[in-house]
Amino acid sequence: MPPQPGVADAPPEEAVGPLERGLAVLRALGAAPHGRTRASDLARETGLARSTVDRIVSTLLQLGYLRGDGRELGTAPRLAELGNAYLTCSGLPDLLDPTVRQLADELDESVSLAVPDRTAVRFVSQAVRRRTMSVAFRVGDLLPAERCAPGALFAVDWTPEQQQEWLTQYHQGLVEGQFPALPVGERAAATDPAAFAAATALAREHGWSVDDQLIEPGLVALAVPVRAEDGRVLCALSVVSHTSRHSADSLRQLALDRLRRTAAAMEAALRDAPPSLLPAAAPRPAAAEPGPEFLQSLARGLAVLVALGSRRGGLTLTEAAQATGLSRATARRSLITLAHLGYAAAEGRSFRLLPRVLELGYAALSARTLPELAQFHLARLVGQVHESASLAVLDGADVRYVARVAATRIMSVDITVGTRFPAYATALGRVLLAALPPAERRAELERLRLEPLTRHTVGSAAALERLLDSAAADGWALVDQELAEGLRSLAVPVRDRRGRVVAAANVSAHAGTEPAEQTREHLLPALRRAAADLEADLSFVNTLRG
Ligand code: PHB
Repeated sequence: MPPQPGVADAPPEEAVGPLERGLAVLRALGAAPHGRTRASDLARETGLARSTVDRIVSTLLQLGYLRGDGRELGTAPRLAELGNAYLTCSGLPDLLDPTVRQLADELDESVSLAVPDRTAVRFVSQAVRRRTMSVAFRVGDLLPAERCAPGALFAVDWTPEQQQEWLTQYHQGLVEGQFPALPVGERAAATDPAAFAAATALAREHGWSVDDQLIEPGLVALAVPVRAEDGRVLCALSVVSHTSRHSADSLRQLALDRLRRTAAAMEAALRDAPPSLLPAAAPRPAAAEPGPEFLQSLARGLAVLVALGSRRGGLTLTEAAQATGLSRATARRSLITLAHLGYAAAEGRSFRLLPRVLELGYAALSARTLPELAQFHLARLVGQVHESASLAVLDGADVRYVARVAATRIMSVDITVGTRFPAYATALGRVLLAALPPAERRAELERLRLEPLTRHTVGSAAALERLLDSAAADGWALVDQELAEGLRSLAVPVRDRRGRVVAAANVSAHAGTEPAEQTREHLLPALRRAAADLEADLSFVNTLRG
């Protein structure tokens, strides 16, 4: 485990040990590739006893923050609620994301927001333009200050102690595990302490900073500060390009004015923001019966952390106690522990979360795609119903499979990720067509050429429209042998946290001798549960915040 810079060695007397150790385990998981590891590796990484790690893991499994099959452990999407709490508390993504996306559209280049995290740089928002050559740091990733454009802007405000802290780290080398997002390779000469001091002086003088291939050959970036009313740099707004399109100079000519205007607009938006209107965090439903291994004080500490995200700017001790249903004394000890570890800070009477919270597994989770999230739930569904399950999206007049788990069978249908079928003849397609806004649905129906793919295929647009109305009203569609003889499929919609249908999930089975009605009764409850579990995962994952 890398040392924790900025954290005094001795914990305060009131610190909550299980919370401290639980956070060490989450930090180790966050540093593991894709957030996956084993309990034995966690014990080695954290220096904790194996029995301690096992109790912590058991608690995190019960809280839904981890998933595991005995040997392999992985972070679960629900864990993103910790990072989301910091992001909400900071107010930055909520207030600035639309502007970040708009600037990326205008410049046709990737745009990001990063905040100072001790003496390093942490990404909190990204609008990525995918190109042959494109970078994609993830929300939550950490870079050393001397290796990116925002670093010099932040260093302008550093105290002598912070400068010393940075220098010590620099000479220690990039402590293993501390910057997992950094590409491996030689450090460019332009990142040595003298060069970084010069870049900081330029940033102070001009109010902008460039990264001319400091991270990786080809990557260029330009950043400007976004300041609070008191002049402190709150975050840096960067545009990122590649030398095949821009030199550092040409990027500055293209983008500096626009970046500055955007930063000024962001400063105004932050200044004028009304107080956050988020409802207080709903108390989380208690786990059925906590097992004997459950560490109550770890669970309480994490609940306090999540509660601090229920309002921009954080909560007072009294509010944190109210939001979690804990006594003031218990909430206070959790807050002291979080502050000691650098996850929270007191500001006046309020406690707010710090960017370091994002090191608790957030980056890997924020990059998870819908098909990746679906895989777990489809596999579990197949394990329950012993039929194949898939996830698909609408692509023009077709459905396109984006995830699939096949049941083991002698006879199987040849469907893989990427397979397309006419939407009108599939249950997946009917659910998706049924969810279109009326004008789009009508346009799609008018374009359609219905073909009799089997004896059973729907024969007219009017009949199809009635079927779509039923699918919309019922929340499911069953299609019996309209795509292929012998093939029956049942599908339900999958919604994002705003209630928009983003995909459909299905189970397909051989038509056999069972009446279709019976197939539906038999499969629908498990399919619905799988879709609801996937929707819950989706609601935690930032990149799909939309
Ligand atoms: C990024 O947003 O990926 C980024 C920003 C600034 C840099 C490098 C990369 O200097």
